[in-house]
Amino acid sequence: MNITFCCTNTDPGPWLAGLRTAFPQADITVWQSGAPPADYAVVWAPPQQLFDEQPQLRGIFNIGAGVDALLKLRLPPSAVVVRLEDAGMAVQMAEYVCQGVIRHFRDLTAYAEDVRAGRWTSYTPRQRSDFPVGVMGLGVLGARVAQALQQFEFPVNGWSRTPKRLPGVRGFTGAAQFHDFLASSRVLVNLLPLTPDTANILNQETLGSLQPGGYVINVARGAHLVDEDLLALLDSGHLAGALLDVFRTEPLPADHPFWRHPKITITPHTSARTLRSESIAQIAGKIAAMQRGEAVTRIVDVGRGY
Ligand code: NAP
Ligand code: GLV
Repeated sequence: MNITFCCTNTDPGPWLAGLRTAFPQADITVWQSGAPPADYAVVWAPPQQLFDEQPQLRGIFNIGAGVDALLKLRLPPSAVVVRLEDAGMAVQMAEYVCQGVIRHFRDLTAYAEDVRAGRWTSYTPRQRSDFPVGVMGLGVLGARVAQALQQFEFPVNGWSRTPKRLPGVRGFTGAAQFHDFLASSRVLVNLLPLTPDTANILNQETLGSLQPGGYVINVARGAHLVDEDLLALLDSGHLAGALLDVFRTEPLPADHPFWRHPKITITPHTSARTLRSESIAQIAGKIAAMQRGEAVTRIVDVGRGY
């Protein structure tokens, strides 16, 4: 068996070592042009040339949950595309989103500013029932986030393409129920994949349908959000704030208004990081299953885009 590794933003050494430990008999190398034919590719942001030179690939393993960038490339039709399935990301996403919701709900940013200025202040406690949180996308990450938010007794709404029954979550499905979902939510958490159906989904009309004083948390992809529409709704006062982890251009350009807007908190695409050992274990398990001719979970539906 031959595995090629191509990940442009990480040191390949520990990945190769982990995969070689899992498959001591296999030939496992960093991809370079002219490399011998491989059975499997383990990739993040690979060049088109890799797939042009490796049409025989059986499996392409994406070292991340989102496959939007990968699906922009021409992939060998014989290969299945497999994305990471949690692999330690779901609990990180739950931590990140809960801290964002709680930080807003408890006025912790205002308290921090007051303390820095030497002011001893007190804000009126908010009613939890006035802060229904809507989670867009109830997949591996969204379902975990919805579950975590319930631990803090926020009312939780969830929206997905197909019906989902999650305990304690008020479910909304498809385009027909999208407006009702938004109108029932004050805080909006985006955990959709980026597909032709979901690009620009956070816009003037949709964000304007949130309850007044809305708060937006985008942890999925920057291209879900129409930046100018968010800024206009923040400046009009309809939205109270936003927590953004992902951007149309990353790194976020130095002159982008999100850096300095007083109602926006940004983080540098760090809400749920790929964890190396968990990811290697998952990918190795799936490659071993494919070698035995068994089915594997979380094969991407390329036509659907996730
Ligand atoms: P997933 O398991 O594929 O879940 C996607 C969810 O979105 C599913 O519930 C799906 O509905 C729903 N959905 C898709 N298209 C829809 C549409 N048109 N209308 C309504 N619902 C739709 O994905 P995941 O593992 O949870 O990851 C979600 C995304 O998070 C990734 O694609 C990636 O972009 C992002 N992410 C970001 C970070 C970060 O660090 N910021 C880290 C990891 C992932 P069905 O259940 O009905 O199919
Ligand atoms: C990160 O953004 C991922 O998709 O895993």
